[in-house]
Amino acid sequence: MSDESDRLADSFRRFAEASFADAPLYMAVSLAVADDEEVMTRISESPVASHWPLPLLASVHYLLLGNPEDPLALVYRQESDADPVPLFLAFVHEHWDELLQLMINRYIQTNECGRTALLAPAFTLVESGASRPLAWIDVGTSAGLLQLVPHYRLDYGEHGTTGPEGSPVVATCEIVGEPPVIAKRTPAFSHILGLDRAPVDIGDPEEARWLLACVWPASPRLARTAAAIELAKVHPPHSVKGDAVNDLAALIATVPEESLVVLTTTWVVAYFDTETRQAFMDLLKAVSMQRPLVLVSLEAPGVIATIDQEPDVTPATYNGDNHVGLTVFHQGTATPHFLGFAHPHGAWLEWRGPAGISLP
Ligand SMILES: C[S@@+](CC[C@H](N)C(=O)[O-])C[C@H]1O[C@@H](n2cnc3c(N)ncnc32)[C@H](O)[C@@H]1O
Repeated sequence: MSDESDRLADSFRRFAEASFADAPLYMAVSLAVADDEEVMTRISESPVASHWPLPLLASVHYLLLGNPEDPLALVYRQESDADPVPLFLAFVHEHWDELLQLMINRYIQTNECGRTALLAPAFTLVESGASRPLAWIDVGTSAGLLQLVPHYRLDYGEHGTTGPEGSPVVATCEIVGEPPVIAKRTPAFSHILGLDRAPVDIGDPEEARWLLACVWPASPRLARTAAAIELAKVHPPHSVKGDAVNDLAALIATVPEESLVVLTTTWVVAYFDTETRQAFMDLLKAVSMQRPLVLVSLEAPGVIATIDQEPDVTPATYNGDNHVGLTVFHQGTATPHFLGFAHPHGAWLEWRGPAGISLP
């Protein structure tokens, strides 16, 4: 292998080991593809958008969703015990040109509705401290599936449930340690809006298929995402195409001043480069000179600077999982509140948030 394809193979292996501990099929095929010199060379000679495992995995899954009788599709649906590794490698070689076009032309769109189980307790906290209506803007909303949280059933086991009984979308979240307040319903937002540089049009079957393709196969998340897509056809999310830094202020300005704007980012700021992360925070501080803002974030450690400065988030408590944070922007300053550690898809929450909060 060339130095470049060697480096790429190593990064594929590292990504697989960090991400696919509970997804054995993706672990196996990612490690196998990292050992395939021809594929690594082809990827290393392709645009950088393809230089990590998810674009390849999503593109293969996308083609399989359109070809349900392929032997690999049967393995993906757990209808066959065949070894996925040789099937996957053969599929990649056979469909390389088609796969490459998908890998370099589509963004990874992991619109994970399970994350709403992490947002809801944060919303309950915000509602308890706000003295006016709340308006919610989901930044990096993808297909807008998180915007449908009022229609989802969030199940926290013995600690209670949020949302309507009988919802076709149920997100189960294990509470680790002391529970947050679990409300029967999410706040009655005056507005629910989304912003995304590439919003997914759920009404377009190809886009809906790409959204499903970005979910790991053989995972209950696949059926849940499919159910959320159907629900979104009944309750279409309100999403605007635009950039988180360049277009957010204009969207905020569409919300009447009497509402307190709550922004969410869930696995969005992680995709910004360092300058864009700083520009995003600077923007929120600047807008807060005119009106206060609340940012609820679910991001990897190290992504939201305000949250990572919190005293609770020391190396002694850091366990490598995601951070739920709440940052209040008011008159140009940012005040962080660490809310807890969480599974990136919402499977569990270790709540560390305050019992109450006072918002401007
Ligand atoms: C991994 S997805 C997460 C989607 C959703 N927040 C969720 O948790 O399911 C990241 C999303 O952020 C969007 N995004 C990335 N950079 C952006 C930017 N600068 N402005 C607006 N949206 C952006 C992408 O298009 C994508 O839809």
